[in-house]
Amino acid sequence: MKLGVNIDHIAVLREARKINDPDPADALGIVKRAGGDQITIHLREDRRHIHDEDAARIVAASALPVNLECSIDEEIIDIVCTLKPLRATLVPERREEVTTEGGLDIIKYEERTLSAIEKLHAHEIEVSLFVDPDLEIITRADALGAEWVELHTGSYANIHAMLYSNLSRTHHAIADLDLPRHTLQTKLEESLTTLLSAADHAKSLGLKVAAGHGLNYHNVEEIVKIKAIEELNIGQSIVARSVFTGLEQAVREMKALIRR
Ligand code: PXP
Repeated sequence: MKLGVNIDHIAVLREARKINDPDPADALGIVKRAGGDQITIHLREDRRHIHDEDAARIVAASALPVNLECSIDEEIIDIVCTLKPLRATLVPERREEVTTEGGLDIIKYEERTLSAIEKLHAHEIEVSLFVDPDLEIITRADALGAEWVELHTGSYANIHAMLYSNLSRTHHAIADLDLPRHTLQTKLEESLTTLLSAADHAKSLGLKVAAGHGLNYHNVEEIVKIKAIEELNIGQSIVARSVFTGLEQAVREMKALIRR
């Protein structure tokens, strides 16, 4: 199973100060050396982290394939066509959201999705649709001509967090935080079965299957067991962990400079 590393969160840190440090493009070589298979970035309409200029530099400099997530907004699609990443992943976007909530509604937005797919294909960019693990939606994704579907794992990740971690802040506002453990356990198993059937269905249609959102060092193991999924895109948990795996070295380097 391949790993796409979503490096948006490096740009989130940079944007906290609106300076040039840290530069997400500096992650390209590190991700490759560490065995990452793909660089994933999201060029949001509000440009809250990755900017057009970052995306251009990353696509130009990355030795790994670049998967560029974007909305179906026409202006954004035109930019993506000029950037020419290997793949574009179409995602829903709401300005007020903290992160992508739910999959793209390709039934409601069928015409706009199709027009985005056609434009991207005309520029030789392969298309992935970020969708909920729903059989009908996956059938539609195939009919629209996408090469990939990326299954939204957010629901699974949220239930897992409620059961196994003391994180009371999950990715979405969840109404059923007070559910008894056995009910959460059943819900977790159901969410895995849903992902498994969705992945198998997509694969049986000839689609390539990716998955992502909310995956971390505690919940990824069960997803890896789903054979039809060939790629995971993971961002927040990797960048979050890197703060602590890298902090000791960073403090040592500063201390050495001060001592000199
Ligand atoms: N896949 C898609 C389509 C996404 O929108 C995101 C979030 O940008 C991810 C994967 C990565 O999610 P996370 O940062 O929670 O690992």
